[in-house]
Amino acid sequence: MPESWVNSAERIGADLHVKLSGPGGRRAALARALREAVRDGRLAPGTRLPPYRSLAADLGVSRNTVADAYAELVAEGWLTARQGSGTRVAERASPQPARHAGQPPVTAPPRARGPRHDLRQGTPDVSAFPRADWLASYRRAVQQAPNEVFGPGDPAGRVELRQALTEYLARARGVRVEPDRIVVCSGFAHALRLLFSGGVLRGPLAVEAYGLPFHRELLADAGVRTVPLPLDEDGALVDRLGRERAVLLTPAHQFPTGGPLHATRRAAVVEWARARGGVIVEDDYDAEFRYDRKPVGAFQALDPERVIHIGSVSKSLSPAVRLGWMVLPERYVEGVLAAKGEREAWASVLDQLCLADFMARGSYDRHVRRMRQRYRGRRDRLVAALAAQAPHIEVTGIAAGLHAVLRLPPGTEEAAVARAGRQGVALEGLAGFRHPDHPMPATPAPDGLVVGYATPAEHAYAAALSALCAVLPRA
Ligand SMILES: Cc1ncc(COP(=O)(O)O)c(C=O)c1O
Repeated sequence: MPESWVNSAERIGADLHVKLSGPGGRRAALARALREAVRDGRLAPGTRLPPYRSLAADLGVSRNTVADAYAELVAEGWLTARQGSGTRVAERASPQPARHAGQPPVTAPPRARGPRHDLRQGTPDVSAFPRADWLASYRRAVQQAPNEVFGPGDPAGRVELRQALTEYLARARGVRVEPDRIVVCSGFAHALRLLFSGGVLRGPLAVEAYGLPFHRELLADAGVRTVPLPLDEDGALVDRLGRERAVLLTPAHQFPTGGPLHATRRAAVVEWARARGGVIVEDDYDAEFRYDRKPVGAFQALDPERVIHIGSVSKSLSPAVRLGWMVLPERYVEGVLAAKGEREAWASVLDQLCLADFMARGSYDRHVRRMRQRYRGRRDRLVAALAAQAPHIEVTGIAAGLHAVLRLPPGTEEAAVARAGRQGVALEGLAGFRHPDHPMPATPAPDGLVVGYATPAEHAYAAALSALCAVLPRA
């Protein structure tokens, strides 16, 4: 975020200052600031919030950023959105009693009330984190580590981890890799930052028309212009690639719509890269979780000199571990290491050794197998619930991953997300993932709900599915 923006106090509405700061990009900062304002009573129940466009102009952010922040708060129940009456503070969002300056709080501040049913995509089932195996690996890693481990780390990452990754990625993903082509990082977002803020790659960058807004914001903050590639059921229309220098794709499982990139498109994008001297950045974010069809191997194997392959444990294990990896064409290794600096400043060396042990002992494979079964069961229950309670709703993107997309009749998405929010069901509409420069496509119908099925606790999943079906548009 630009400094002037991060630290500025901005005025919205008649008498409200929100401070946009802290981690997670502009959308997260705005959502946090509004949540805070509702919680402490500065925004009273029933207050109408400014329209997207005017708040966006006031704050110097994009309209989508405001729309996403509002949608998030609607999903959490802080705000309500109704056609014709705009977005308002929910009546049941009750303020904190006022305190005098200097007076200590009588009770601990209440925790933010979460939604009753959280069906937002993004987080794996963190209740299943393999604590015992992780601890065993950590203990072994620390006990057996030579003294130099406790000094400054190598920016390429510990060789033990790069070796374990080489074996795993070749076996499980078909990646063509050697340890000295791997640079360990603290997840996909960190890899993007290194590549684009670190000056290794430059824009313009072609991206899929639907993707994670956080990644687009991160690229915008790095000064990279992103150009949306339309999608159809075979993935990105890569024949639209033009003068861009690089393209970012989720070839194994398009995020968020859910299909793999078709084989002919895979070949075509490699052709483009060879002809134009371009580079393909592969986001292999959830490739471990594949249910009904044959595994789709890593795109990188088609041309290791043209593809930067990036993976992370955020979906397979936990986003809290903050470890990921880049498999680089040789010509980029030095630049990425230079962007990282002389010492490992991001990825804990001890955690790297722990993950290396965890992988080498087969604990990672065991965990992934167990979670694949669990998620497949969850996916099947979602599909069955929809077939029974909302058979008119098409569900897509179900062959892999931790989320599905429910296709809705045109024009019904926003109301469905708002209805869900009022019923305590947090989920996201497809619109929040659309690149702001991508026109609303006519086909496939753009309205849809992205439903993450990994997060609800097992005992609450049946109720979450019923609540979901109850808020879907009727036939
Ligand atoms: C599309 C996509 N790419 C990559 C990631 C991984 O991000 P990170 O490794 O920065 O946690 C995620 C989230 O887990 C994602 O949804």
